[in-house]
Amino acid sequence: MADTVKLEIGGKASEYPVLSGTVGPDVIDIRKLYGATGAFTYDPGFTSTASCQSALTYIDGDQGVLLHRGYPIDQLAEQSSFMEVSYLLLNGELPSKKELDDFTYTISRHTMLHEQLATFYRGFRRDAHPMAIMCGVVGALSAFYHDSTDINDPKQRMIASHRLIAKMPTIAAMAYKYSVGQPFLYPKNDLSYTANFLRMTFGVPAEEYEPDPVIVSAMDKIFILHADHEQNASTSTVRLAGSSGANPFACIAAGIACLWGPAHGGANEAALNMLREIGTPDRIPEYIARAKNKDDPFRLMGFGHRVYKNFDPRAKVLGKAATEVLDKLGINDPVLDTARELEQIALKDQYFIDKKLYPNVDFYSGVILSAIGFPTTMFTVLFALARTVGWVAQWNEMISDPEQKIGRPRQLYNGPAQRDYVPVSQR
Ligand code: SDX
Repeated sequence: MADTVKLEIGGKASEYPVLSGTVGPDVIDIRKLYGATGAFTYDPGFTSTASCQSALTYIDGDQGVLLHRGYPIDQLAEQSSFMEVSYLLLNGELPSKKELDDFTYTISRHTMLHEQLATFYRGFRRDAHPMAIMCGVVGALSAFYHDSTDINDPKQRMIASHRLIAKMPTIAAMAYKYSVGQPFLYPKNDLSYTANFLRMTFGVPAEEYEPDPVIVSAMDKIFILHADHEQNASTSTVRLAGSSGANPFACIAAGIACLWGPAHGGANEAALNMLREIGTPDRIPEYIARAKNKDDPFRLMGFGHRVYKNFDPRAKVLGKAATEVLDKLGINDPVLDTARELEQIALKDQYFIDKKLYPNVDFYSGVILSAIGFPTTMFTVLFALARTVGWVAQWNEMISDPEQKIGRPRQLYNGPAQRDYVPVSQR
């Protein structure tokens, strides 16, 4: 593409630089557009808008490519660990053994919560959705960790980042325990990040809990696959909240709230509920018809993506892992058969081909999470747990970016033109 583009509006010509990244689409730098033309761009949903420069994650939606700091997601999922991917996202390079050990040690020593926070849970109904609890408790962290809320101090930003990554499993496990009426378990520093989370979730004080290595490995892979994903809705929410100078705990709570939506992270819960509602493969055509019916708000949950117009590489890894985990656990869940059949039928259906709708990260994850023993209400909590490292890495990148300022979009106004007030006696 040329290194500038010309625009003529209202008889006035103006020119804008074209910027290129390492790889992927160029961008037209329109920062001077309003000053030069008096016009805004219009892009609801930001389908053609780059909000920032970032070195964290690259997605090629047509090729089904997802890179974290240049490393392909399938290689990371198969060969790395969530702690190592967290270090990579935060620091930009894969760690040496010592760097990884030091990072893991630091994270494990921040896994406990201030004891007062445990009382927060008692204020919720036992049947509160765990995501409601996550929004509340994570937002409340800023009331406890005042020594890591100065966003201009890189040391405080890193401590806050470590605290958020470390405490999310504890907070998530406590949300689950509260919902099932079991006592909270404290983290154990001699367990890995993911094994610690599984013990706090499924262990009980009455007996020792040995996390199954098959489940630990599957859970860790699921965390890796959900760690970061460019400028998705919840990450953009975290960046926008952070652009005002809000503290990192409040920003992550905002990201959790956005992720909860069924069009975003809430889709994993909705997808498994949908697969269970479909029940058997013979009912799939009825649901495919509903998904294609413009008058029916129903959508195939776990299908489609704003960026992936081919396959979501995470769905590929999860589809394979679903079979492996259920086989290893000796579970025969008919929902997996329904999911596979639905995928095959949808991928041959012209509507889905034309609209480039493929399974996304949320389509198979619920099958695995259900096999591990999580209720569907915990699925998005697990997404938020894993995505926290991406959110904090993106937040740190934004704070350090000299080009970033408070986010303040404009609008195309379509309300009434100015008019005078009419007293009620004259209306
Ligand atoms: C995540 O952005 C990210 O990176 C998100 C994420 C991450 O890691 O952060 O990848 C995680 O959120 C994955 C997406 C999970 N959501 C779902 O599975 C919910 C079902 N999917 C859809 O709601 C939808 O596909 C979206 C929200 C994911 C994408 O929406 P877009 O990009 O705005 O596309 P669209 O809604 O405009 O759909 C394009 C067309 C529409 O038809 P037309 O209006 O052009 O006629 O495709 C249709 C839609 O009706 N369509 C679907 C469909 N998804 C889109 N039709 C049936 N079933 C679907 N699932």
